Amino acid sequence: MSGPIPRRTLVTSADTDLGRAFVRRLHALGDELVLAGGERGALEALAAELNATSEDPRPEVLPGDLADVDDLDLVVRRLETDVRPIDLLVVGPAAPSPDGLPGADPGEVRAALDRSAGAALGLVRAALPGMIARGHPGPGGVITVAGPAAYLSAPGAAGIDGAAQAYVAMLTESLAQALARDGLTLTTVCPTPPQPGTGRGEHTLLDAVPLRVAPPDADAVVVAALADHAAGRALSVPGVGAKAVVGVSRLVPFPALRAAGGFRRSSPVAAWRGRRGPRGPREGTALVTGASSGIGATFAEHLAVAGHDLVLVARDTQRLDATAERLRERYGIEVEVLVADLAAAAGRRKVADRLAAPERPVGLLVNNAGYATAGEFLDTDPAVLRANYEVNMGAVLELTAAALPGMVARGRGDVVNVSSVACFLPGRGSVYSAGKTYVTALSRNVALSVDGTGVRVMALCPGFTRTEFHARLGEDRWGPEWLWLDADQVVTEGMADLEAGKAVSVPGAVYKAIVGVARVVPRALLRALAARTATGRG
Ligand SMILES: NC(=O)c1ccc[n+]([C@@H]2O[C@H](COP(=O)([O-])OP(=O)(O)OC[C@H]3O[C@@H](n4cnc5c(N)ncnc54)[C@H](OP(=O)(O)O)[C@@H]3O)[C@@H](O)[C@H]2O)c1
Repeated sequence: MSGPIPRRTLVTSADTDLGRAFVRRLHALGDELVLAGGERGALEALAAELNATSEDPRPEVLPGDLADVDDLDLVVRRLETDVRPIDLLVVGPAAPSPDGLPGADPGEVRAALDRSAGAALGLVRAALPGMIARGHPGPGGVITVAGPAAYLSAPGAAGIDGAAQAYVAMLTESLAQALARDGLTLTTVCPTPPQPGTGRGEHTLLDAVPLRVAPPDADAVVVAALADHAAGRALSVPGVGAKAVVGVSRLVPFPALRAAGGFRRSSPVAAWRGRRGPRGPREGTALVTGASSGIGATFAEHLAVAGHDLVLVARDTQRLDATAERLRERYGIEVEVLVADLAAAAGRRKVADRLAAPERPVGLLVNNAGYATAGEFLDTDPAVLRANYEVNMGAVLELTAAALPGMVARGRGDVVNVSSVACFLPGRGSVYSAGKTYVTALSRNVALSVDGTGVRVMALCPGFTRTEFHARLGEDRWGPEWLWLDADQVVTEGMADLEAGKAVSVPGAVYKAIVGVARVVPRALLRALAARTATGRG
């Protein structure tokens, strides 16, 4: 008599402690396993260990670095195939970023983002359609591993990883809401590391919490995560202390987090602390991406009025040239036009090179270019999702990394990253909200890293704003008129908040109220409320 069909599970980062704990537990539960990870030897050894303790076929092994597109593609194709199909995907913990910003090698921090957020996007997109079509008494679906810094601000390398983890967690939470109707469970796990803080010698808010109790070990994390997944929960935070910290983290005002970040032991820019007096007025040239329309064009206008020379970046040469000509004539400033497609590596490099050019320093970088994708997550071509990831996230990281070293060396400079209120509202949309969650977390965390250097980093989080954004999506304007902001108001309030030293700016009283309420309402309730409109769109 044949028993129930075993669940087939693919685990990435299976060569890490937590990945191994997932593999051993799932094996004990009777799952057939596919092991992916960076170290072929470690994967083979684990496969041999499992093979020695059961009659089951030897687990498949897929070695590779998920930051490498070819290696990622190998795992994507394994998830897409109908031969021995995968019922459950466990996206294990990504290898950490080597360093924080500034200081880290830009290529390495970018690879760390791809290994974490980029891989999660590609793998989840590849896995879900087949899972929905086939179904499995399972439970099937996706488990992603984030980390404590996904919900807690941290400086240094932990902050770089935390921002990527915040993306992974938000993507999982948002899709969980949208795909529950398809009978699939998506759960994001947020384990705390065994040592205080991030376990990497960097402090986070965790160190400042006196009630912190010993975090569970990897086995206990896996047991709790699988139980939460089986119960259909979108968020799993194993351990009482970690649950409490994550629960209250949104209530803690950012200045308190800044203070907590301030007593960390070391960072690449710690040496600059105290060496600079009060910052002087912002100087020189401002570079604005997405300057051909909407909020970016409005930034350009405001900065021209204030007398800044400008570098305008976007794809549309004609519109940039026309804007540049008008601003030169009207305000007598110098305006460079830099035509670049930020979805392409060459376009991002061109802008990064301009930002790093020491002879023509840029004092203000506005990472504004961005857009949402139309349609449902599962109906959207993976290449379209990836291009959106490059513009909305990859470009923000790469350009910030290019601008910061010069700014820190000069002891002054500002970075404004245009995010969205969508980052405070889990359960709505899919990649757009998750990408903006990344931008806000990255901005806050890098702001902690550069505190005291004379450099400021701020996330600007507008709500609905009258620009070309919605027309490009093929959408009519939505909702009541009082929900809509003018780009002028967004830029005016944003620049005032930057001057006031804020790390996060939410223009407009209505949106301040919405974000204030979202901070105190439990995430599960927010997701449930969002379920009324959530579709996994965009
Ligand atoms: N409008 C809203 O309701 C709203 C709300 C919250 C946040 N935001 C954010 O605000 C920012 C600005 O958007 P917006 O509302 O001003 O929209 P918009 O009028 O559509 O402007 C978007 C800008 O991004 C540029 N861009 C798009 N893809 C690009 C690419 N691949 N390479 C280089 N530039 C690219 C566009 O220029 P080209 O087409 O010439 O390349 C354009 O200048 C975005 O980050 C958006 O997510 C908007």
